[in-house]
Amino acid sequence: MANDASMQEPLAPAQPGQGARSTGISYQQLLDTDTREVPEVLRLQSARELPVVRVPLERYTSRAFHDLEVEKVWKKVWQFACREEEIPEPGDHTVYRIANLEAVIVRGNDRQIRAFANSCLHRGRALKDGPGRTEELRCAFHGWAWNLDGSLKSVPCRWDFPDVTREDHSLPEYRTATWGGFVFINMSEDAPSFESYIGELPSHFERWPLEDRYVEAHVAHRMRCNWKVAQEAFMEAYHVIATHPQMLPGIGDSNSQYDAWDHFSRAITPNMTPSPHLDYEPSEQEMLEAMITTSLDAEPAFRVPEDMTARELMAQMSRMQMQALVPSVQRLSDAEFNDSFYYTLFPNFHPWGAYNRITYRFRPNGNDPDTSIMEVIYLAPFRGSRPAPAKIHWLDYDEPWTNAPELGALAKVFAQDTFNLPNVQRGLHNAKHTHAVFANYQETKLRHFHSLLDKYVTA
Ligand code: FES
Ligand SMILES: [Fe+2]
Repeated sequence: MANDASMQEPLAPAQPGQGARSTGISYQQLLDTDTREVPEVLRLQSARELPVVRVPLERYTSRAFHDLEVEKVWKKVWQFACREEEIPEPGDHTVYRIANLEAVIVRGNDRQIRAFANSCLHRGRALKDGPGRTEELRCAFHGWAWNLDGSLKSVPCRWDFPDVTREDHSLPEYRTATWGGFVFINMSEDAPSFESYIGELPSHFERWPLEDRYVEAHVAHRMRCNWKVAQEAFMEAYHVIATHPQMLPGIGDSNSQYDAWDHFSRAITPNMTPSPHLDYEPSEQEMLEAMITTSLDAEPAFRVPEDMTARELMAQMSRMQMQALVPSVQRLSDAEFNDSFYYTLFPNFHPWGAYNRITYRFRPNGNDPDTSIMEVIYLAPFRGSRPAPAKIHWLDYDEPWTNAPELGALAKVFAQDTFNLPNVQRGLHNAKHTHAVFANYQETKLRHFHSLLDKYVTA
């Protein structure tokens, strides 16, 4: 393993139409070694040619660009607002915040989920300050009240408002949709339907239904960097060589596959396969140890048998561990138990595929382009009745991830991942150069994101 040497690595011969790729086994070749049938969805490879994007650095630092994002992105896109299980019963509500915008998400007596601008039609007080259960949406200032479906219910001293009619004073409503147990909202009336926005993403998750999981942990960390700086650190495996060198014996970092479709993209990083950056061939046991030590923060107490690979062993063990909870895991391939499938639905929603528990969301922190909020949500399978969702655990800017023990050993990996980010933001402000340069293939997801961002901000 040598960073300098890797700069001089000869490039593999270009595959026609797909450009240059790393040396080492491709993800599709690795799938050929699976002991089970591999689902079609893992066989997909997007054919899309993305324009080469060099991104102006001010996109990450300027308030003017942030304001443009509010107008052209946050007010226009479908975005993940909350989990359905946060508002299970009529009257349950929560407040979704993005930049300086807020929506109250509420479940009606008809069990429908609705979203309203969080602002009283009298003099504008925010109607709700946080989650809770209520019979009506009643403003704390002068007491105007709305029914859960947004229709006007009562106005104190009604005689004093001759112009106010029930018909004209329903709460302005935002569009809502659900998928995988997530509630999405859209603040624009002219946006395309949710179905056309999300496209084929649901078909990718058919074998891994996220609606059948519960929120096992939910950690929100304030970060000293732009929200895009934070999220882009979780959209490629190119950083593994420098950021997580301990994983190299057991991660096919630069053999990851990257795909991009209309509004979503994915990366697949294979595990229990060696990094092409290594200058030796690790044994199956070494691959296992590199990854177990990282994900469990402990040495494995077992050895890979002679006649098995680390991939087969890990898949076998996970199948056994999970079958009581999710009987259908028996048919899942080795790939689905070993590899990392990290999806992104534009602009900021990152559910992971298979039975990895991770979902990320990244948001601006109010209107400050230099800070953001990163959330890690663990979605776990359950048996019987759905456990109550974990409450959000807030971590302040400089608090260590390990202050959230509910994240388990991955807290240390998140610490490695986020260590650089405040220094990226600092460097962006110091720059004499004007643009960031993205890798042609390994930064496909970033290029896809910025191509869409371009489209939205110039629309
Ligand atoms: S501001 Fe809401 S009732 Fe007056
Ligand atoms: Fe990482």
